[in-house]
Amino acid sequence: MCSTSSASETVFRRKDRVEVKSAEQIALMREAGLVVARTLALLRDAVAPGITTRFLDVIAEESIRSSGAIPSFLGYHGYPGSICASVNDEVVHGIPGDRVLLAGDQLSIDCGAILAGWHGDAAITVSVGEVDPAFLELSRVTEEALWAGLAKAQVGGKLNDIGRSVEDSVRAQPGGAAYGIVEEYVGHGIGTSMHMEPNVPNYDVTGKSLGLIEGMALAVEPMVCAGQRTVRTLDDDWTVVTVDGLRACHWEHTVALTTEGPWVLTALDGGAARFAALGVASPASTRA
Ligand code: MF3
Ligand code: CO
Repeated sequence: MCSTSSASETVFRRKDRVEVKSAEQIALMREAGLVVARTLALLRDAVAPGITTRFLDVIAEESIRSSGAIPSFLGYHGYPGSICASVNDEVVHGIPGDRVLLAGDQLSIDCGAILAGWHGDAAITVSVGEVDPAFLELSRVTEEALWAGLAKAQVGGKLNDIGRSVEDSVRAQPGGAAYGIVEEYVGHGIGTSMHMEPNVPNYDVTGKSLGLIEGMALAVEPMVCAGQRTVRTLDDDWTVVTVDGLRACHWEHTVALTTEGPWVLTALDGGAARFAALGVASPASTRA
């Protein structure tokens, strides 16, 4: 170890235990983020009616390891997979297995990797064959809310700007008042561990909010339900489902806060296209 960018030499802001990364360390997190981004792109293309969620797990582990990275989920609190594969009314933490995907299903795939000690974490929702337009809309609403939150990952802003923006985005959609925004699970700080301070809620929290500073990295991950936001965990102790049985979607990205704006480390283009459309400045427009 000869540089200040090693994973063992991070600085924590004292008052709130937020891990503050140097530009070199963020660049290393970008490499981890790209492993996740490329793996999710492979998985998205592999999804088809007739395959099992275990098949996707095998592809993911192979993709991550062949990049020299480690699947961060595998063994995390005993978790048995490299991805979470959550189908239809499953919100998050679905365990990959023998379940066969059918046309009309919707699948959230959550994936994390560790490269040189740095974590990346992201999730997408994918349709299997042709899907009811109402569910495509739910996924669109969730992804749009994710980007509304990422856009607020701004140096000098407040943590609550992110959650408020996610919530406002959902509520501003046609029929937006009817969607449920999950509160039991939230986004998180990320860096030398997958889950770090601070929590990143997907809703407005009144009161004093943490200041956002350069070098923070956050995983923003809205979970939006077609119906009620209430969830429960199945007997496998992992799979989180909606209580009303209606569908939910989950989208997630890892974002770094830079003085040039948010850099989406788990997006192949760093967020360049989405932020350009939103009129948000980002280092992604000049960096790969
Ligand atoms: N990626 C999830 C998150 O966003 C965590 C997965 S839980 C695990 O926080 F056990 F599967 F790792
Ligand atoms: Co996460």
